[in-house]
Amino acid sequence: MSFERHHLRTLEGYVPGIQPRLPAVKLNTNENPYPPSASVCSQLASLPADILRRYPDPLAQRFRAAAARLHNLTPDYVIATNGGDELLRLALTTYLDPRLPLGLLAPSYGLYSVLARIHDAPVAAVPLRPDWSLPADTAEQWNEVAAPLAIITNPHAPSGALFSGAELDGLARAFNGVLLIDEAYIDFVDPELGHQTSRLVRAYRNVLLLRTLSKAYSLAGIRLAYGLGAPDLVASMLSKTKDAYNVDAIAQLIGAAALDDTHAAAQTWEAVRTSRSRLARELTALGFECQPSQANFLLAAVPLGDRRLSAEAVYRALMTKNVYVRWFDEDRLRDKLRISIGTPDENAQLIHALRLIV
Ligand SMILES: Cc1ncc(COP(=O)(O)O)c(C=O)c1O
Repeated sequence: MSFERHHLRTLEGYVPGIQPRLPAVKLNTNENPYPPSASVCSQLASLPADILRRYPDPLAQRFRAAAARLHNLTPDYVIATNGGDELLRLALTTYLDPRLPLGLLAPSYGLYSVLARIHDAPVAAVPLRPDWSLPADTAEQWNEVAAPLAIITNPHAPSGALFSGAELDGLARAFNGVLLIDEAYIDFVDPELGHQTSRLVRAYRNVLLLRTLSKAYSLAGIRLAYGLGAPDLVASMLSKTKDAYNVDAIAQLIGAAALDDTHAAAQTWEAVRTSRSRLARELTALGFECQPSQANFLLAAVPLGDRRLSAEAVYRALMTKNVYVRWFDEDRLRDKLRISIGTPDENAQLIHALRLIV
């Protein structure tokens, strides 16, 4: 007999990317290939041991002030969370009535639908168009089923496509529920596009932005992210639904140091963009079909070639060569690999291994 709640008995939990024994060419969880900034490292080295004895600031005020400064907002627009994943879970807890649908796009980051299942909520997934663009009636489709919350990823994962500012305005205006825009990869967007979104939370009461320090700031190990939204929206999570001490003391200090010095991190974003273009060219030369990406990964369709290898076979063959990428057994993704951008040396090792395989 199972003690689990009934609706959880058939749930398959979210499966994160493999964490292989290092050294390996690890291009499977979209981590930043470069180390955190010098100011983060010196903050880490000078942490007073006494902060371990005390509870952390429940409201993470120093960190929220740093995030507010960065986005030209006031701290009441900001909530700090234990990774972006906690913000996603909090959004469902706070805005999604049980049994009403969660609006999504298909395909999406797999955790969204797992969180919906845990919450016992159905999913209303709007399929992206064949070119990965957003259907014009997305908000209407969510409204028809009375979705109180919808989540989109922008740049989209796993395609890397970027929805424009005008499309986001249109969605925010037309959608009747809370629109959570998961911007886990936003810092890798080409600055020439002038894509700027913190204005959305000033303009719309129903927009919540997710930012994480995992990718852009090379801090996946400390689990720190934040949400930006109108003070009313954020206040429900801050004062009602989050755990009292949801972000630990070390993360709060290191996170503030990271956001106070974005210059160093921005150099890593530029390096990733340069490598992204080069890797796309090299994959294309090998016969892969790469989606244009504004994120720190590429979605590449595997060439059939003479050996007619499936994407899954290539993914597994890469692992035998100690190279890890991601393969999803899902519609539209089964014939593709998602490859995080590594250092130039890691990317070269990937290309070398692929040349041997395909
Ligand atoms: C689309 C997307 N959103 C959110 C996250 C959560 O990141 P974290 O919990 O590390 O902040 C990830 C992590 O891979 C992601 O891919």
